[in-house]
Amino acid sequence: MRAGGTGRATAVAYPNIALVKYWGKRDEELVLPVTGSLSMTLDIFPTTTRVAVCPDAAGDSVTVNERPVDGVTGERVRRFLELVRNLTGRRERAVVTSANRVPTGAGLASSAAGFAALAAAAAAAYGLPADGRALSRLARRGSGSACRSVFGGFVQWHAGRGRGRTGDLSSYAEPVVTAGTFDPVLVVAIVDTGPKKVASREAMRQTMRSSPLYRAWARTSGTDLDRMRDGLAQGDLATIGEIAEHNALGMHAAMLAARPAIRYLSAASLAVLDQVAGLRTDGVPAFATFDAGPNAAVLCRREDARQVANALTDIGDVQAVHLAGTGPGIAVGGGGQ
Ligand code: PMV
Repeated sequence: MRAGGTGRATAVAYPNIALVKYWGKRDEELVLPVTGSLSMTLDIFPTTTRVAVCPDAAGDSVTVNERPVDGVTGERVRRFLELVRNLTGRRERAVVTSANRVPTGAGLASSAAGFAALAAAAAAAYGLPADGRALSRLARRGSGSACRSVFGGFVQWHAGRGRGRTGDLSSYAEPVVTAGTFDPVLVVAIVDTGPKKVASREAMRQTMRSSPLYRAWARTSGTDLDRMRDGLAQGDLATIGEIAEHNALGMHAAMLAARPAIRYLSAASLAVLDQVAGLRTDGVPAFATFDAGPNAAVLCRREDARQVANALTDIGDVQAVHLAGTGPGIAVGGGGQ
């Protein structure tokens, strides 16, 4: 193990929204998913994270948006730093300073951008040699969906095979080929900025353990993934959107069939689904997807984005809309910020 690294590094990462979802782990410790997934990296809500290795510090300190972070989130970051230290053979603690403008805990994947940026900054600061694939595997350990935010555009996370080291090495994300002309927009409709009712980790466990629909969803997801890749290669928005909406609703259906039921979708989420169906009837291709929360992301053509945003804003419960195009992968720099 080498001791090296710049001692300090800053990384910027963007959130991603899955069009074919990740829901369920076959290995909790290594964060190995049951199914592959595919996402679009956004060009809004970046997270910027600086890691500075401090030889004199007694413990790690973590600050997000200028506030000290303790509790569960602080513990997750510390455990992640411990993983990086174990991989490098170093013991020094670190100061982590992070800033984001993602509404946290509302199913908008703040953890994806957060752990992708942390992985890249910590690897550089501690001197862990990591190419894109290795960085993706590392980010995966912080939060599954973070492994996809390492790359820009459309990204597939391979479930990989097996457990242990075989599983770890085979489960990573990589960019997906798309038709050059394909340039869609995701209109993010915020209906609730509050924290999640159930953490996704626990909700996944509960779905796998008790939902009779989980296996069926996981099986269909494999087909969805193959068809989604074909749709992206052809730049076929209608196919891509139809699969994305179907896959997300199937995931939520599996959760609703869990015992007790996990219900992230709210009345406002269903109003978004109605509005999107209405747009399609009017000839505007628009398709909704939902993560572990009630907020929606609506996929549409760039030329329709304004009309879609206006239609969503018309829904009383929609508090804000944000237009997102495809964003870049992580960028790593020196220690300055
Ligand atoms: O990365 P996690 O553990 O927060 O899980 C995220 C799961 C979903 O956002 C619901 C789906 C996905 O593929 O991003």
